[in-house]
Amino acid sequence: MNDIVIEALTKSYASGWPGRPPFVALDGLSLTVRKGEIFGFLGPNGAGKTTTLKILMGLVRQTSGTASLLGQPVGDVETRSRIGFLPESPYFYDYLTAEEFLFFYGQLAGLSRAVIAHRVSELLQLVGLTEARMRQLRKFSKGMLQRIGLAQALIHDPELIILDEPMTGLDPVGRKQVRDLILSLRDRGKTVFFSTHILHDVEMICDRVGIVMRGRLLASGRVDELVRRDHTQSVEIVCEEVKTEGNAFIHSLATRVIQQGQQCLIVLPNPDAVDAMVGEIRRQRGRLLSVTPHKASLEDLFFHEAAHEASPVPAHMMRGRVS
Ligand SMILES: Nc1ncnc2c1ncn2[C@@H]1O[C@H](COP(=O)(O)OP(=O)(O)OP(=O)(O)O)[C@@H](O)[C@H]1O
Ligand SMILES: [Mg+2]
Repeated sequence: MNDIVIEALTKSYASGWPGRPPFVALDGLSLTVRKGEIFGFLGPNGAGKTTTLKILMGLVRQTSGTASLLGQPVGDVETRSRIGFLPESPYFYDYLTAEEFLFFYGQLAGLSRAVIAHRVSELLQLVGLTEARMRQLRKFSKGMLQRIGLAQALIHDPELIILDEPMTGLDPVGRKQVRDLILSLRDRGKTVFFSTHILHDVEMICDRVGIVMRGRLLASGRVDELVRRDHTQSVEIVCEEVKTEGNAFIHSLATRVIQQGQQCLIVLPNPDAVDAMVGEIRRQRGRLLSVTPHKASLEDLFFHEAAHEASPVPAHMMRGRVS
């Protein structure tokens, strides 16, 4: 069963200039999010993530294509009460305290006072804001606002949770807390669809991931499947007493050769070349110290996919790097 089905979604924004063609923010994007999974919607700035999420929430209308949530077309009022949403830039009522803010959203969701009171203290605890519950939101830091925004999205205990960059503005501890929170939601049978440009967050917790760039889905699938798919693993060989300088054979196989004193690190672009390299080390009577396959990360895949695009991935995509 799929909780989100997006089919051939297109969104063009008018350029605002006479004669200039409209800007295509989404270009035939299709994806599905299954019930009970954590799906990471990954892409650089301007890829079309927020546009997609806004269409799902009925805040923006698509130019063409269809989308459904929990089996109902986008915009269905009854379904809306079963969905939690954290917008990219939530609006906060500055003079409400954290507690009042959540109470307000609980009332909007039609919950009783008793249920709200229980949910508010539970959620404040969950997002680590119990101490700050009486503080006005205008006195909250960016990370605290992000947390209270998350609590707001969960106030009515929704089945499907859609989060636009939930880790933005959080410190490493906060990021981990949000990751743990998302995992605990899945453990309780919820479906979580979140956007991010941080590869690490996706690698850490997502069941499946979709990579979006320039309004198109470049790849989607399980993280381990994606990094394996037509993506060769490199191998690092460390050896001793091997002459690499001027050795055309070694250089024809390796992508990098780093000589440090007696030791040498040789990076092979794929495992097929290992036998030949070990043969060369033996032929020279060198000593083989280690052979380490380098597990491809999502980041490698991301750059691999991005290489097919016209322009390079911006440097900020490097943030949150894992190796
Ligand atoms: N109202 C609008 N009018 C014109 N262009 C828009 C509008 N909203 C978004 N765009 C453009 O659509 C593209 C996709 O924007 P979107 O906000 O969906 O990207 P994003 O993937 O969420 O990026 P980010 O990581 O920066 O949040 C961008 O080039 C943006 O300038
Ligand atoms: Mg965005």
